Amino acid sequence: MIVVFGSLNVDVMIAVDHLPLPGETVLGPGYELTAGGKGANQALAAARAGAAVTMIGCIGTDPLAETALMDLREAGADLGHLTTVAEPTGLAAICVDKGGENHVVVASGANRRTKAAQFPEALLGPGTLLVLQMEVPHGENWALIRRAKAKGARILLNAAPAAPIPHDILSLIDWLIVNENEARQIAAGLDLQTEDARTAAREIARAGETIVIVTLGAAGAAAFSSQHCLSVGALKIKPVDTVGAGDSFVGGFAAATDRGQDLAGALRYASVGGALACLKPGAQPSLPTLVAIEACLADLPEVRSLA
Ligand code: RIB
Repeated sequence: MIVVFGSLNVDVMIAVDHLPLPGETVLGPGYELTAGGKGANQALAAARAGAAVTMIGCIGTDPLAETALMDLREAGADLGHLTTVAEPTGLAAICVDKGGENHVVVASGANRRTKAAQFPEALLGPGTLLVLQMEVPHGENWALIRRAKAKGARILLNAAPAAPIPHDILSLIDWLIVNENEARQIAAGLDLQTEDARTAAREIARAGETIVIVTLGAAGAAAFSSQHCLSVGALKIKPVDTVGAGDSFVGGFAAATDRGQDLAGALRYASVGGALACLKPGAQPSLPTLVAIEACLADLPEVRSLA
């Protein structure tokens, strides 16, 4: 069973010719309101990739809360442990330019009230794969990770957006998933080598005795631990919008791992899931189903061992 502890947002998506420079106003033709938030996106990605998922987090009392939940509800995720707080539901303002580049600004709102204490003890055990990100208070993440590990749960942290990770927490994490910038920032916080993202990931893995997976965009992803040094490629695609691609990777990886795939197998599902999420605008509208992922697995080269 996958339990996601994290953020739920509504995304205001605006297509623009170019992204605004500081002080510049740019015009877009209109906007779309879609469900988002890294926590909710990863929960939905895992559910669409075939997993049983529970989402734990906070929403507001405003009408946007329903928008934030609509896709998760439709996918059959368990929303019974969400908490409603007297704050606005989280909101992300997202501009995407013609080339698919984006700017994202998040007003955290209700997500700032997310507490580890919301997480029911009954959901923590060896059968639980706990998935977390960094859009809720970091201290609550650390408290939950300590509790979950003591109960035998497996822990996947997507350190996005990047922030320093305490050394004792790093060693409790089973899988840390980061993009290239996040790998460099986290390595810097641990006083490790930071120039090359792959080397940074390898060093973080060594320091934390954990598995670190770094996503590399069109180059796929690499995974490092004391026993693994793997590289997975990416589907050849023409990206329309990369918003949510990282979340699709994480959710696909979690779902495949929860089904019993080994690291190499889970990396393949994750890579295909991440690529397919780049083919449509928006985060949640673009997250692929298990059928769509499995239909493309054969197009992906086998996972390679790196020297
Ligand atoms: O990772 C994409 C997500 O980041 C968006 O859905 C937005 O809500 C922000 O949290």
